[in-house]
Amino acid sequence: PGGKLARTPPMGFNDWAGFECNSQMNEKLFTDTADQIVKLGLDKLGYNYVNIDDCWMQHDRDAAGNLQVDAARFPHGMKWLGDYIHGKGLKFGTYEDAGYKTCQGAAGSYGHFQADANLYASWGIDYLKLDYCYQPMDAFPGKTASQVAQIVYHQASEALLNTGRPMVFSESAPAYVCCTGSDFTDELAWLPNEGQLWRFGSDIYDAWPSVLQNYGEANTPGLPAHGGPGHWNDADMLEIGNGGMTTTEYQSQFTLWAEMASPLLLSTNLAKLSAEQLAVVTNPDVIAVDQDKLGVQGSIVQSGNGYDVLSRPLSGGDVAVVLFNKGDTAQTITTTGQAVGLTTGAPFALKDLVTKRTTASDGIISANVAPHGTAMYRISRHAQKNTEPSVAVTVSSPA
Ligand code: DGJ
Repeated sequence: PGGKLARTPPMGFNDWAGFECNSQMNEKLFTDTADQIVKLGLDKLGYNYVNIDDCWMQHDRDAAGNLQVDAARFPHGMKWLGDYIHGKGLKFGTYEDAGYKTCQGAAGSYGHFQADANLYASWGIDYLKLDYCYQPMDAFPGKTASQVAQIVYHQASEALLNTGRPMVFSESAPAYVCCTGSDFTDELAWLPNEGQLWRFGSDIYDAWPSVLQNYGEANTPGLPAHGGPGHWNDADMLEIGNGGMTTTEYQSQFTLWAEMASPLLLSTNLAKLSAEQLAVVTNPDVIAVDQDKLGVQGSIVQSGNGYDVLSRPLSGGDVAVVLFNKGDTAQTITTTGQAVGLTTGAPFALKDLVTKRTTASDGIISANVAPHGTAMYRISRHAQKNTEPSVAVTVSSPA
């Protein structure tokens, strides 16, 4: 169900990457998070979903077949929490699984999609992430995993639609059933009809190899072309703040996710973000790339020894370019206006979206980029005369 939902990639919070099912995963985490989002002004930047992941429900349904909230974690219940979150001007998301159980073994939604959707609507839910562990393959003899996923995600989508309440629908299925052949062709034929975003790859974890992995998966040939308004490729949550990476690496995750039009879902204790980490996630110029209304997902236009260049056309004719050093030593990365899709309009104005410095370029885009670092530019045609002359920009690493 969709219409006007998620015309830009969803932004907000999901607890899973930072907390999983630990003892902090409770009502207080979500009320504190809502408080912090408002206190830090993150809502003004677009971070407006507060989403709960696995472990909010009990292992069994009640005698009438209803889901039961884990009252030890959520003593006031979900309607109360939804009211609290809505009272802050934010939106409320929840989680279930399209199979028999959630990945953590709690009651799944298969066979109960309508009753569960009605329950979410009664709580004021605005966003559902539907995971896909414990797939109901035995209910569909002779069908492939991909075909079964299509059937059950359609059922779930219809159930949400029947409630009359708009809910963003996040589909985890492709991450579980991909790939017939080596692409997502089968799944992409139906995913955008049912929901607004989908997970296509690995679970993120708080270390550099995970960022590289999910970045690589996001750039599976053919996949970037399927991102767009109301139908996004979800590279998974942001790890910024969780402590396992350097500020340079966290900046790279944020930059790359924005370039790839991925959802921006924070997943950490927001009160403990360092000043540098807060600067990364509140950078309005990088967020503007993620949220650009043209909704074209950036893609790799040039690769070399341990580096990629990505380009993303923006509404109004600008282009967002990322020079990404995947390697372990600093290197100068050089590309051209032509390579990133700018065939006319030189001299260009290159605005570095992190340092905020703008330089003029006759067509060469070049920077020395720190290991695991990124340089991100918004490139406009016809640089003004007062723009600084072209120079090779050095991206320094605080790591
Ligand atoms: C697998 C998903 O990919 C994760 O994001 C998270 O939702 C867990 N399941 C929860 O069990």
